[in-house]
Amino acid sequence: MSQKIPDDVVFDNRPVGVFDSGIGGLTVVRALREALPNEDICYLGDTARVPYGNKSVDSIIRFAKQDAAFLAGKGVKALIVACNTASSVAMEPLRGYFPELPSMGVIEAGIEAVLRTGASRITVIGTRATINSDAYRRGLHARSRSLLIESIPCPLFVPFAEEGVCEGRLAEEVFDLYLARQRSAPPDVLLLGCTHYPLFRGALDEYFGGKVRIIDSAQACAESARAFLAARGLCANPAKKGDVRYYFTDLPTDFNGGLWHFLSGAPSYLEKAVLE
Ligand code: DGL
Repeated sequence: MSQKIPDDVVFDNRPVGVFDSGIGGLTVVRALREALPNEDICYLGDTARVPYGNKSVDSIIRFAKQDAAFLAGKGVKALIVACNTASSVAMEPLRGYFPELPSMGVIEAGIEAVLRTGASRITVIGTRATINSDAYRRGLHARSRSLLIESIPCPLFVPFAEEGVCEGRLAEEVFDLYLARQRSAPPDVLLLGCTHYPLFRGALDEYFGGKVRIIDSAQACAESARAFLAARGLCANPAKKGDVRYYFTDLPTDFNGGLWHFLSGAPSYLEKAVLE
């Protein structure tokens, strides 16, 4: 039964800005659409410069600042950094550059989701930059010193996800390359610390024989987004239907085919983004 909304409630129907280095953040958009179907979203994918995961910290911060500035220019009410790589090094700089724009990152949400499981043996997987930043381990240990955390960079996962090779023999060989030891001694939780990785969720579950609890930072981020917006009085009217506008810094000719396996349908609005 739908609840009557009191007359004095103020809603904020401006869009939420979401960015990623490319198309991985679309897994966050998909989860956000399910959790907050009334919110409008402006999504920016920096496809011209993807991947961020093998870049230096200075470059990642510079790119993240340009991405956020583009979305700020679209009048977004808040920023969700849907890229673990950018979240791992750029949240503090972004909050410094854009003090008026509330921001949250996938890493903070992923840490909360892991802590909620009460598990003690955690394996975190992500891009090289995310794992080198040590952001997950630091964040988890800041909350609970007794956690046993292992962090593993899995750089081949991103190109495999982008090519749609997310299961089968080739995907399993890549899992073996990085996770063979964990398969024989499974952790309690496997944290997918990259927004491309939810595409491997089913195959990873099978690889571990269902013995590992998989936490997906995209899902965790969407779950935290509701409380994040509500705490700041930024929720859109629940009676309205949200829409998504997609912006990409590069739109290769064969883009559409590769892109939409990250979503469940074709986009209603797509535009090439030019960053300052
Ligand atoms: N989607 C990005 C992340 O969550 C990874 C892709 C990249 O390396 O840019 O870290």
